[in-house]
Amino acid sequence: MKIKVAPSLLSADFGCLAEEIKKVEKAGADLLHIDVMDGHFVPNITIGPAVVKYIRKCTKLPLDVHLMIKNPQKYTDAFVKAGSDMLTVHIEAISGLKLKNLRSKLKAQGIKFGISLNPSTALGRIKPALKYADFVLVMSVNPGFGGQSFIPSAIGKIKELRALYKGDIAVDGGINNLTARSVINAGANILDAGSYIFGAKDQKKAIERIRNAAK
Ligand code: DX5
Ligand code: ZN
Repeated sequence: MKIKVAPSLLSADFGCLAEEIKKVEKAGADLLHIDVMDGHFVPNITIGPAVVKYIRKCTKLPLDVHLMIKNPQKYTDAFVKAGSDMLTVHIEAISGLKLKNLRSKLKAQGIKFGISLNPSTALGRIKPALKYADFVLVMSVNPGFGGQSFIPSAIGKIKELRALYKGDIAVDGGINNLTARSVINAGANILDAGSYIFGAKDQKKAIERIRNAAK
């Protein structure tokens, strides 16, 4: 599977977001990962649709919007209108009929639908929902903040998931050239990385190091 690298804007300088976005686009990013936090589902607050709307104007990269919020189904219309291409919700925040309905709605809107699970959530919890997902996002840190250390149990989870799921598997949290190698070998093909890419002197190199980590 083709490896895609998605810089996470959370580690960008929000004071000059447009330049930061153009820089990672030029450096070879495949997607732009945007972390939306509500202060309820996670203990941090970031940005909403109003900012995504202006991010949309800065780049041609697909916008991969990671919703770390309660009741995500209430807000997806606003994020679709703002120009999202991919929307990820957490299995801990929505399930059952609501998840199924959201999937149908997003499919009709032409949005790629991701379902994510936290490090402490067992893979079994997401199994019934796999048929609805265009991709699965395995969290390798507890969501809320950039710059945390990779939680190694994500590797076994990705391996187990890959054995039963043929779609895209994304991984988010603590990704650098070393952890990238383990998660790609385990079966992940979309790598979200914030601090490693935005903290790098040479972003092009950092992205290439992630992309080629398992070669
Ligand atoms: C964490 C976010 C991540 C975060 C990753 O809650 O979902 O996308 O920005 O940052 P790093 O790569 O620094 O762990
Ligand atoms: Zn994220």
